[in-house]
Amino acid sequence: PTVEFGLEAPFEVEYHDAVGSTNDRARELATEGAEDVVVLADEQTGGRGRLEREWAAPSGGVWASAVLRPGIAPLRAPLFTLAAAVATARAAREAGVDAGIKWPNDVVVPGDEDDGDDTGYRKLAGILTEMEGETDRIEWLVVGIGVNANIDADDLPAGATSIRDEAGDVDRRRFVQRLLEEFDALRTDLDSIVPAWRDLALTIGQRVRVDRPSGEVVGEAVDVTDTGALVVETDDRREMVTAGDCEHLRPV
Ligand code: BTN
Repeated sequence: PTVEFGLEAPFEVEYHDAVGSTNDRARELATEGAEDVVVLADEQTGGRGRLEREWAAPSGGVWASAVLRPGIAPLRAPLFTLAAAVATARAAREAGVDAGIKWPNDVVVPGDEDDGDDTGYRKLAGILTEMEGETDRIEWLVVGIGVNANIDADDLPAGATSIRDEAGDVDRRRFVQRLLEEFDALRTDLDSIVPAWRDLALTIGQRVRVDRPSGEVVGEAVDVTDTGALVVETDDRREMVTAGDCEHLRPV
């Protein structure tokens, strides 16, 4: 069910009232050769988060997955995750939400001390990027974007917030239009992504603790590399942390 979306960006939109996971449907389309198609749903019954976590996706959210074929090296794929986070944060800010980005992929709102979640932020949106292809070139990329839009935060997991709770309900069609237009502008100018991300980043300049499968790193987050890795300066060295390696990041 392709719907006319009045987009200035060159995406075709396939809309579902309900679907298991928009990323799964987008992967199917990608395998069939689709390009620049966005799968959009009001509700997901099997939403997936990073690191094989579940992602709560009740009716009222913006659950979207874009199929892209950028023909880049896999090493550069994290840039698309950053671009999606930037586009989402910008659209949320236009909707009146004080949104920023917690590296690598969380769009968050600064929380109160007594929020009781260990990051000090409430999570508004998350990004799940998946890809397939050779070692030197990506065949396709699916960028999944989940935004807690017109949902009561009480109906979401602890530590989450929503556009409804922060600023009141949004016109989801307009919100998606703005988000996809911003995303399109960024993905057609890859060099603009990291600087745009830095402007919205809450992580840079913070002392952070990063949990990775290979052990934790504690130090100051000083920069993001041109492939999107976080540079953490510890007492005696500089460590690069990639998004795929980061299980948990919190300010310390
Ligand atoms: C995370 O922060 O763990 C990433 C969450 C990504 C959720 C979105 S919702 C649209 C797309 N479909 C999915 O099943 N997941 C992503």
